[in-house]
Amino acid sequence: MPTFSQILSKPSIFKDRNVLSPHYVPDILPFREEQIEKIMNWVAPALKNERARNIFVYGKTGTGKTASVRHVMKKFEEEKQPACTCYMNCRIYNSRYRVLQKITKDFIPEMDKAGFGVATLYEKILAWISGGSRRLIIVLDEVDMVGDLDELMYTLTRANDDLKHGSLSIIGISNKLDFKNVLDPRSRSSLCETEMVFAPYTPSQLQAILLQRSQMGFGQDAVDESAINLAAAIAAQETGDARYALRLLLKAGEIADEHSLMHISDKEVEDARKNVDSDIAAEIIATLPDQQQLVLYAASALSLSGSKYAKLFAASDDEDGRFLASGEVYEEYTRACKAFKRKKRSSRWYREYLNDLEMLGLITMVESGPGMRGHTRLIKVGYPPLQIKALIEKNFVHGKVMAAEDEDAGGTQEKL
Ligand SMILES: Nc1ncnc2c1ncn2[C@@H]1O[C@H](COP(=O)(O)OP(=O)(O)OP(=O)(O)O)[C@@H](O)[C@H]1O
Ligand SMILES: [Mg+2]
Repeated sequence: MPTFSQILSKPSIFKDRNVLSPHYVPDILPFREEQIEKIMNWVAPALKNERARNIFVYGKTGTGKTASVRHVMKKFEEEKQPACTCYMNCRIYNSRYRVLQKITKDFIPEMDKAGFGVATLYEKILAWISGGSRRLIIVLDEVDMVGDLDELMYTLTRANDDLKHGSLSIIGISNKLDFKNVLDPRSRSSLCETEMVFAPYTPSQLQAILLQRSQMGFGQDAVDESAINLAAAIAAQETGDARYALRLLLKAGEIADEHSLMHISDKEVEDARKNVDSDIAAEIIATLPDQQQLVLYAASALSLSGSKYAKLFAASDDEDGRFLASGEVYEEYTRACKAFKRKKRSSRWYREYLNDLEMLGLITMVESGPGMRGHTRLIKVGYPPLQIKALIEKNFVHGKVMAAEDEDAGGTQEKL
């Protein structure tokens, strides 16, 4: 058994692991200088006692939206003015009430208790802004997660009309490109007063970002140039996502540490990719609604036990014979619903669930060729079925059985 001091003195490839964490915001964000400068220009009026513009920032995941806005906020907070910012992630602050509560909690300590209504919170915030002639900028990251966004926008816009002194502005951030279409035209026009799009990074931009971080995070020459290029190429092929690229680099470092290597080559990046991909799949699966999990479970179970039509598929271009017919997966799904005591949904819903799973890259689907009677969809599971099956079993057995009982209780109440 090693001692702690032995463990701690074990050499590591990392110089500063922290800089590779997804929460770290570097001081310099290459390729985003232009966006940062524009946002600075748009919020600068707040520093000379005018209202800043509302800004809506959107772009695909991992394109540096959060990092850039936080960078601007940091600079902004360094200026000593009655201007201030309040950042929140709307995954957590996902309603008008929670957003208002967060603002009061950050700035008005005596309100740090639950139990106030929306109207009271609103009044207190207005009094606080007006009392100090403040210029408040609220950053709503992942703003599409706010359930009653129209109401929130209405309240925040109205605040500016009600305020005698000071003002309130909003920076909304989202990676759901079409989400603003569901907004009420009035909230859309106030949220999207000024818009900015973040484009995905190109392979060479990702290379530069990875190089910057690897120099900060690892010892000198610890990472092969070709390993960086490989990680950048993999991430660029996915979606130009810097978060994914950095995750590959971090995982490659961890793999190197596990094998006591002081060097990262292509091999560690390749291994990291497999690891990171199944981690990401596990994260996606864990947040899937029950029904989609059950369909995915059925497809994985059937992939393991083998399709009835395996011979037919083997003759077609499905070399590994892993395709399943949609109908047999539905039968397996029916059995899974029984086993996990869930309500079975109609085949119309089932087809929707398949589409959801395909969108998330958890399965792939093709139309059956001439070898099969009629037209059926063929399904293939995108990740090792054994792992997926075990993961979903765990979700149901350890995390969700209680939920099923609650649902039943809800159902009985409804009837009363
Ligand atoms: N230009 C850049 N230079 C250095 N690091 C960057 C750059 N852009 C993004 N990153 C890093 O990539 C990761 C993801 O960036 P960020 O969180 O800003 O993405 P995002 O656009 O907000 O994505 P999402 O829509 O998923 O929230 C972070 O760790 C961030 O530090
Ligand atoms: Mg973000």
